[in-house]
Amino acid sequence: MQALAADPTEARVEALLKRMTLDEKLGQMSQSTELRAPLSEKNKAEIRQGRWGSFLNAAGPAERVEAQRIALKESRLGIPLIFGRDVIHGYRTVFPIPLGQAASWDPELIRQAARVAGREAARSGVHWTFAPMLDITRDPRWGRVAETLGEDPYLTSILGAAMVRGFQGGSIGAADSIAACAKHYVGYGAAEGGRDYNTTWIPEIELRNVFLRPFDAARQAGVATFMSAFNSLNGVPTSGNEFTLRQVLRKEWKYDGMVVSDWESIREMIPHGYAADPADAAFKGLRGGVDMEMVSTTYFDHLKALIASGQVPMSWIDDGVRNILRLKLRMGLFDRQPAGLAIAADPEGAAIARRIAAQSAVLLKNDSNTLPLTTKTIAVIGPLADSPVDQMGAWVMDADPKEVRTPLAALRDRLGEGRVHWARGLKSSRDQSRDGFAEALGAARASDVVLLFLGEEQILSGEAHSRAFLNLPGAQEALVEEVAKAGKPIVAVIMAGRPLTFPSVAAKSSAVLYAWHPGTMGGPALADVLFGDAVPSGRLPITFPRTVGQVPIHYAHMSTGRPPSEKELGIPMGTPLDPRGFTSKYLDVDFTPEFPFGFGLSYTTFEYANLRLSSPSMSLAGSLTISADISNTGSRDAVETVQLYTRQLAASITRPVRELRAFRRVHLRAGEKQTVEFTLKASDLAFYNSKMQLAAEPGDFHVWVAPDSALGLQAAFKLTR
Ligand code: BGC
Repeated sequence: MQALAADPTEARVEALLKRMTLDEKLGQMSQSTELRAPLSEKNKAEIRQGRWGSFLNAAGPAERVEAQRIALKESRLGIPLIFGRDVIHGYRTVFPIPLGQAASWDPELIRQAARVAGREAARSGVHWTFAPMLDITRDPRWGRVAETLGEDPYLTSILGAAMVRGFQGGSIGAADSIAACAKHYVGYGAAEGGRDYNTTWIPEIELRNVFLRPFDAARQAGVATFMSAFNSLNGVPTSGNEFTLRQVLRKEWKYDGMVVSDWESIREMIPHGYAADPADAAFKGLRGGVDMEMVSTTYFDHLKALIASGQVPMSWIDDGVRNILRLKLRMGLFDRQPAGLAIAADPEGAAIARRIAAQSAVLLKNDSNTLPLTTKTIAVIGPLADSPVDQMGAWVMDADPKEVRTPLAALRDRLGEGRVHWARGLKSSRDQSRDGFAEALGAARASDVVLLFLGEEQILSGEAHSRAFLNLPGAQEALVEEVAKAGKPIVAVIMAGRPLTFPSVAAKSSAVLYAWHPGTMGGPALADVLFGDAVPSGRLPITFPRTVGQVPIHYAHMSTGRPPSEKELGIPMGTPLDPRGFTSKYLDVDFTPEFPFGFGLSYTTFEYANLRLSSPSMSLAGSLTISADISNTGSRDAVETVQLYTRQLAASITRPVRELRAFRRVHLRAGEKQTVEFTLKASDLAFYNSKMQLAAEPGDFHVWVAPDSALGLQAAFKLTR
């Protein structure tokens, strides 16, 4: 980045850069976890020398204060450290996993949750979080699906930008803000076979139309940093990828924030087979455009020699250091004297955590209005009813399980101990033993209704925790079978880090509520939903397959030359000699998902009517108003998430059968009708064509105003020149 002399920040960057030795520059470009509590003599000496620009996930508030004091007061140039930490879905107060938050479809609430997390983290001396994760995935086997905001680039863009605004507040210079990080740049979620860290092949057109979009949205929202990823993308590891980092991020998007590598992802270019040795890795990481190396030390160890030999120009190093200093200056870290830091829950945290957990829950089934409960006595059964750590979810470094409110505790609070019959049934979600079944059946027999808390432990999702199957692990299905013998209505509450497949459990249950890993306040939030104090409004941010064999599956797929028809649903299956048509389907399972993207029930019913367009056509410079009347036809006030989808019927490249263009959460009182209006601009329909130009193309479109990606009122319009 060339300095703009007029800009005081840039002037300060340049002045500092002039005074820095090469060692000090390489120190700034290095990030370490090695900060001891209490600080070791080695720590102190290195900070004085300027050996590190940043520490991540290391030590606590007291050490951060002391380390920063040494950096500011005792290092030659007084350049502050920046402390990074994985504040992913909360800090002390834990919110639902990102995939769960995404099910709220509520950017404002997500912003508020990130604001709380940002404040809590900032109070303890953390400057920078490695969130939001903006990876698009269509593969629930991938353990990190838990950390995503789902499969859709539009939804992820809106919600990811909201998180950036939450973490960063009005300004990253404010003492209660933290810098956000758009990660993992890019394509990481397309890992082959859903196996973490695996290879990705994504044609540029798909990269631009899908995977890059949320990153661009985060950039536009002002995200302070980017993180390059672990995956190799089209043959080039993303932590040494000149195309994504230099061409797209720096040249096309003109990004002047800081880029950090992922954990050792510079060194990992060696096992990738892209770098011959650590020196080559350093060369390729820097050439790619990574400013700061996380954990591995190839930059510090090798760039000096590469400079000396003339293989690396000093300008590459200076550019990287500029990006780092600019961030530290923008954050005001040179002028902040930290004091009185502590890890503590924000006073607003619990209420927001409760609201967002309730809004994240997706009602998947509710026969004969089983929910909300009106019952006298309940059986609470299952390994996840009272498991604080599991309910917190994938990323919780600073939370205290003792502050977690479980469903069991919340239901006992609400009903009194005497009306709750509790049996764990299984020790954990993976437990295969039936030892607890008799007690569980006894609890079911003693109660009017059975609440089964099933799913996956925390450890079964997240980084490096991919699964080849999506079923409920352990003997959970057998537990449901056993408990069903009591003949009481069953409500299955599923807590998990990914979409699971659970057809037999759904069949035995009258109601199914999908709760993800709901965080600190998951218990009270679920009690609110189960008893109707909160009416479910969550919608799936990702397609739920019928079986793992359908994966990858997503709603915004292309058509084929032989799309299957509705008539091919529910056919008797299982023979390779099935006489039916030569269409794109499976012989042994329906081609449709179990639950589509955007799906979720309520305790009330909604009717969509009277879809109208302001005009049957619009020009490339124009816009269109699309409206429909939405009525709450049930007896409860509730929120309906109204979704706008389009499809271009023919274009210069094939286009998805549906794409989400807008959505709105509409509050409707029982019996109320509202007209919901969307403005669709022609530019909203733009996509990258095969020449990599972003433009909308004239043609015929379908449009839906819909409750999910499979239903809705449909109309047509033309886009004209
Ligand atoms: C993960 C990142 C995380 C980083 C720092 C890596 O292993 O991929 O998402 O931010 O570690 O903990």
